[in-house]
Amino acid sequence: MLNPLAGKCSASALRHSANEPDGLLPPRWILMQPSEPALPRLPADERGFSLVGKIMSTTDWEERYQSGDMPWEKGEASPGLVDFLATHPKLPRGTVCVPGCGTGHDVRAWARAGFAVTGVDLAPSAVRLGRERTAAAGLAAQFEHRNFLRESPALPFEWLFEHTLFCAIDPGERDAYVEAVRRWLRPGGQYLAVNYLIPDEDGPPFGTTRAELLERFSPHFELLEEWVPRSYPNRTGLELMLWWRRKNA
Ligand SMILES: C[S@@+](CC[C@H](N)C(=O)[O-])C[C@H]1O[C@@H](n2cnc3c(N)ncnc32)[C@H](O)[C@@H]1O
Repeated sequence: MLNPLAGKCSASALRHSANEPDGLLPPRWILMQPSEPALPRLPADERGFSLVGKIMSTTDWEERYQSGDMPWEKGEASPGLVDFLATHPKLPRGTVCVPGCGTGHDVRAWARAGFAVTGVDLAPSAVRLGRERTAAAGLAAQFEHRNFLRESPALPFEWLFEHTLFCAIDPGERDAYVEAVRRWLRPGGQYLAVNYLIPDEDGPPFGTTRAELLERFSPHFELLEEWVPRSYPNRTGLELMLWWRRKNA
């Protein structure tokens, strides 16, 4: 049985439409407008993506979007990414892949900074919302409905940005994740990751450590820099940014 909080969670991502004509139509729920206001926070265990996720062995991501059970949705890009782009204005502009892009806040941050960015997500609703919100913001970006772990890009990217996909997938898929980053990124390409260092084993989100990340990525990537970024308030001190370059081999 799903946790009773699930219904309450749904309301966190939806806003009631106040402009129905005189009650002739039933009330409807509409998605938050693309001005990207912050969404209300979940009352319980927000560090986890949801209580529902904790009792499911495999996450049905489309269902999570359909029911509005998306507590990872902060209404804004990762603060660590925003600061990175602001403090590195001279990076050569190139192609960027954002796997597990959700509704596209990080995609739009890269697009605003002048990169040719593609968001990839397994959930059709995430892709649709990403496209709608990006168009509404007057920005250009691609969104593709793809399985990042199983598929390959038409052309490997110059950058790949990770934010809450690694911790969202089953830990048994982590080898496949590293292989996927290598597949989607061209040799010499740059992998920028906002890693979520939590201890949880009953995710999503599933925890990791700096040591695990270095062990998994060092054979194939050269670490350029690492730092603790500015974070959403509930993740302060729990994130680590790692900036890697893919080795040529
Ligand atoms: C926790 S959410 C994070 C979304 C976004 N990165 C954010 O922080 O707002 C994880 C996202 O990854 C997507 N996802 C999960 N597995 C995936 C896969 N194998 N390929 C592509 N997307 C995937 C889900 O649909 C979901 O949108």
